Amino acid sequence: MKILVLGSGAREHALVWKLSQSPAVEEIHCIPGNGGICQQARCASLSLNRFDELIRYVREQGIQLTVVGPEQPLVGGIADAFQAAGLAIFGPNRRAAQLEGSKIFAKQLMARYGIPTAHFASFDSLEAALGYLNQLPDGPVVVKADGLAAGKGSVVCSTLAEARRAVQAMMGERIFQEAGSRVVIEEFMEGEEASLFVLCDGKDYRLLVPAQDFKRALDDDRGKNTGGMGAYAPTPFVTPEVLRAARTRIVEPTLEALQREGIDYRGVLYCGLMLTREGPRVVEFNCRFGDPETQVVLPLLKSDLVDLVMAVVEQRLGATPIALEDAWAVCVVLASGGYPDQYQTGFPIQGLEEVPEDVLVFHAGTRRQEGRLVTAGGRVLSVVARAARLSQAVERAYQAVENIQFQNRHFRRDIARRACRWLENAAGTSRTP
Ligand code: AMP
Ligand code: GLY
Repeated sequence: MKILVLGSGAREHALVWKLSQSPAVEEIHCIPGNGGICQQARCASLSLNRFDELIRYVREQGIQLTVVGPEQPLVGGIADAFQAAGLAIFGPNRRAAQLEGSKIFAKQLMARYGIPTAHFASFDSLEAALGYLNQLPDGPVVVKADGLAAGKGSVVCSTLAEARRAVQAMMGERIFQEAGSRVVIEEFMEGEEASLFVLCDGKDYRLLVPAQDFKRALDDDRGKNTGGMGAYAPTPFVTPEVLRAARTRIVEPTLEALQREGIDYRGVLYCGLMLTREGPRVVEFNCRFGDPETQVVLPLLKSDLVDLVMAVVEQRLGATPIALEDAWAVCVVLASGGYPDQYQTGFPIQGLEEVPEDVLVFHAGTRRQEGRLVTAGGRVLSVVARAARLSQAVERAYQAVENIQFQNRHFRRDIARRACRWLENAAGTSRTP
């Protein structure tokens, strides 16, 4: 079978890597891909927004399955276009992708069906939003642009003054263009965060390993929000009890709500959770695999990913078992110094051949230039190690990181550190996480 993956990040490299392991795959393509993906897949540079051109490519190449990485094409209706053309695609249709495409849509759905999430109010005028903030007691609050804003649309504010500035920037100055024409203002929730990927076929679902990602640029969650500086899985903060609560209070009610609304959700439902004292609550839904969580979740998937993806597309997930590895995986992202603000690219990347064979290196912002691999983006590489213990996986990932060099290389040194401590303490008090 011929498969096409859409996207250019380390998430897509991990998808290409995992899909390629299936005996069903004879050829794998990626659009547009990157400097690492092009070693494993046939890459073509087409726009992900031109569905007609993508469909033509798929037909010309005889591709039987397309797997979508990023959210923009899904929210833009790529699945609808492919389905209308009679082509198999993995990813929800436009209506279903609204769960990520509109925060207000997602919050209203959760409110209607009693799915635990932060209390919220939504606004389509600057005056109304500012008026609402004036009535709140001073303290932390979260302001979110309704539409897609490349992962930058949510601002956690510690004071109302900050929240006013965020509302002004989104609705007044339109820093996210139309995405900020409506905003959600919501309660600040406290706790550990977790990302739970749910494969859904519109009837049944299967859970992948719960992960935790690290969004801030600097250690100890300081610095700016980024696309993600690392991840690990499984996260011990999702204990069996938390997982049960997430299934019964969030995953199942959400899938039931979608069915009742007549929405056929086929693909991955990414549940961003806050593990609060009252149990897990939804921070956000995404309509796709997360990055960098995918880089740790797929290496812990024993099952054939092509089988699972085809089961989703053909709506037979209920008859398709899933097997997960009993191990830990840690991903450290190597970024260009300065990211997520200004950074330079074009620096040669050295030492990849020194990385031990059992460590995975997924490329993001890389490209080949005159036979050399050079940096080409903010996030450059995802270095992923697996081990029987979390602390070992952390150690192996950081050892491999030391092998890889490029100018202005930046990475966080505390990926999975809190979880390692938590596990040590849990062992000390004989609590099994
Ligand atoms: P989102 O764009 O909704 O994923 O939010 C981005 C990040 O902002 C999340 O991963 C959280 O770290 C934080 N965040 C979003 N909503 C809340 C909330 N209600 N309470 C606390 N933190 C939040
Ligand atoms: N890891 C966050 C995201 O993929 O949106």
